[in-house]
Amino acid sequence: MVVQYRLLQKKDFPEIRRVALESWRYTYRKIYPIKMIKERVAAYYSDQGLIKAYQSTVKKSAWFCIATSRRKIIGYSHIRKRKGSWELFRIYILPPFHHQGIGSALVRRGEKFLRSKKARKYLVYPNSRNKSGIRFYQTMGFIQNPSKYQDSTHPCFEKVL
Ligand SMILES: CC(C)(COP(=O)(O)OP(=O)(O)OC[C@H]1O[C@@H](n2cnc3c(N)ncnc32)[C@H](O)[C@@H]1OP(=O)(O)O)[C@@H](O)C(=O)NCCC(=O)NCCS
Repeated sequence: MVVQYRLLQKKDFPEIRRVALESWRYTYRKIYPIKMIKERVAAYYSDQGLIKAYQSTVKKSAWFCIATSRRKIIGYSHIRKRKGSWELFRIYILPPFHHQGIGSALVRRGEKFLRSKKARKYLVYPNSRNKSGIRFYQTMGFIQNPSKYQDSTHPCFEKVL
């Protein structure tokens, strides 16, 4: 399977929302009720939110990359700076495409962006019940930093570049 990677474009917004909803339904099926999943995806992937992500990606103050196969979006990753720290804000691959190296390819590409910004480390705040996501981050070299918590359900993991 040929997978291509490129930065977010405005035309991607409706498809990103569909991929986000499918990924969230899978990832958080035992964590959040479906109503909450739908509400959160609608809020976090609104046109307004995506335009902000798109504009900061164009300005190179953030990085929103999508993975495509046969011109369909199959995953994405978004890195941004928040409160002075670089953060892997979200990474989602459609379930049928898991374990094919796409997540790690997105992480590698994101780290290239971070190095270009002279970042020395970056953070991620997975849901504490998303054990599979946490295992992925650990495989990618993230280490838990118990002194930093976003809130009680989101532990902080940190990777030194
Ligand atoms: C987590 C996720 C992004 C990983 O992407 P992926 O394309 O499946 O990952 P890769 O194929 O690049 O895997 C890289 C390595 O990480 C490890 N890994 C990946 N997913 C894993 C999992 N669920 N459990 C344990 N290890 C995992 C494996 O060692 C894997 O190497 P291998 O396949 O050669 O054994 C993807 O599974 C996903 O979208 N999950 C749902 C959303 C999510 O949890 N996002 C993160 C929280 S915000």
